[in-house]
Amino acid sequence: MKINDKLSKELNEQITKEFYSEYLYLAMAVHFEDLNLEGFANWMYKQATEEHEHGMKILKYLVERGSSVKIDKIDEPKFDKSSIKGIFEQALKHEQFVTKSIDNLMDIAIETNDHPTKNFLIWFVDEQVEEESSVEKIINYLDMIGDKGNGLFMLDRELSKR
Ligand code: FEO
Repeated sequence: MKINDKLSKELNEQITKEFYSEYLYLAMAVHFEDLNLEGFANWMYKQATEEHEHGMKILKYLVERGSSVKIDKIDEPKFDKSSIKGIFEQALKHEQFVTKSIDNLMDIAIETNDHPTKNFLIWFVDEQVEEESSVEKIINYLDMIGDKGNGLFMLDRELSKR
């Protein structure tokens, strides 16, 4: 069965959103490098790699289903650098946006009775729960320790282990 045109178009757009996420987290990673917070940078690099894998997963799925793939332009990532906690809050907001986008894809897969795409998307639904929760954890730590001092040094060490 061929994927419905609207679903195929939205899946294509999701590829671009995942690659944009990769760019956003790379930009955050290099900002943390500038601040000499190598653990934070490491966490963001790993996050960026995961986003690349998400984009590739959808790309390969579309190819497998015989749908055309459009490699689109990726916008320059922009974020407010004024505080470390603020950066993670922006990451969380971005993940919430991605979650909505995945939910929308699932809605269309259900509406169009596309069982393989529903199955395919379950992995992404679960992944979004994990993604939001891991960013929330860091925000909670930052709430406890503040944006500087010994606690920040310890958290940086912790994040270097991801
Ligand atoms: Fe691919 Fe962070 O969602």
